[in-house]
Order: sequence, then structure tokens, then C-alpha cells
Amino acid sequence: MKIYFLFVFLLIGLVCCKDYKNPYKEGKYAFEKHCGTCHGNNGEGLGSLITNLNDLEFINKNRNQLPCMLIKGIHNDSSSVFKTRHGDQEMPKNELLTTSDVVNILNYLNYNLWKMETFDFRTIDSQMNRCSGNQK
Ligand code: HEC
Repeated sequence: MKIYFLFVFLLIGLVCCKDYKNPYKEGKYAFEKHCGTCHGNNGEGLGSLITNLNDLEFINKNRNQLPCMLIKGIHNDSSSVFKTRHGDQEMPKNELLTTSDVVNILNYLNYNLWKMETFDFRTIDSQMNRCSGNQK
């Protein structure tokens, strides 16, 4: 009987808490919903087709552009602000993302992959306001 209870608790532990390490649960959910189909649920990418999200140098350099990049996407034509750099595959725009989505997604990725300074709501919000024009 004791063994049985131990087993049940172990099972509950495994099911409910396996992701307890990353505190950005909403970010995980939003990333899996909006980005994971392409970039993989851990940002590992899709072979040579879609880049992983591990290029720390690029991320660091473009930290302030990331919110607009997620909203506007990355395109092939020369008029777009964010141009592809891994080949022809484009990243579609996603103008439905809210500031909270973007903050949560970036902090989720940051916690797992980038380990930089945390992204804060105010900064992201003002960066997003500045990219809301019609630029592509
Ligand atoms: C339809 C597929 C698709 C979706 C959905 C998508 N991306 Fe991308 N993403 C791409 C492709 C393709 C590239 C590479 C573009 C290039 O060549 O520069 C890219 C590039 C990026 C880059 C730049 C990485 C680098 O090193 O160049 C970041 C950051 C990024 N995506 C984050 C996200 C996030 C966060 C989401 C969700 C909000 C998302 N992407 C949704 C396809 C996608």
C-alpha cells in the first residue's frame, strides 16, 4: 500500500511539475503557440530550413529590435526592415502579439537560452509603440 502511494505521488510530481524550473509559464505557452511550430518548442530550429534561436551574438546585438522583429517578421524584399540572413525562408509577421506576449516569450527564451538581462514590460512596450507604423 505504501509503495502504491509513493508511486502515485511520484507520478503527480512528474506530470504537474516537470517544467517548474522555468518561471515563465505564459511565455512557454505563447512561444509554443506562436513560434514553436517553426523554431521548435525549445528554439532548436528545423534543420537547415529554420534557424535555431541560439545565436547569442545576433540576439545581443539586436536586443532592442527583437520586439519589432517578432511583430513585423523577417522578409526577403529589400524594402523590409528585417531582412532574411539564413536563406530564402521568411518569418511571417504576427501583429496579434500583445506586449505581454512579447515580454513573456522573450523572457522564456532568455531564461532557457540567452541568459541576458531580463526583458521588462515598459521598455518592450515603448519599443513596440515605435514599430507600429506601416513599415514591413
Ligand atoms: C512560419 C515560421 C516562423 C514562425 C511562426 C516564427 N518564425 Fe522566427 N524565424 C523564421 C525564419 C525562417 C527565420 C530566419 C529568417 C532569416 O533568414 O533571417 C526566423 C528568424 C527568427 C529570429 C532571428 C534569429 C537569427 O539568428 O537570425 C528570431 C529571434 C525569431 N525568428 C524569433 C521568433 C519568435 C519569438 C517567434 C514567435 C513569436 C517566431 N520567430 C515565429 C520562421 C518563423
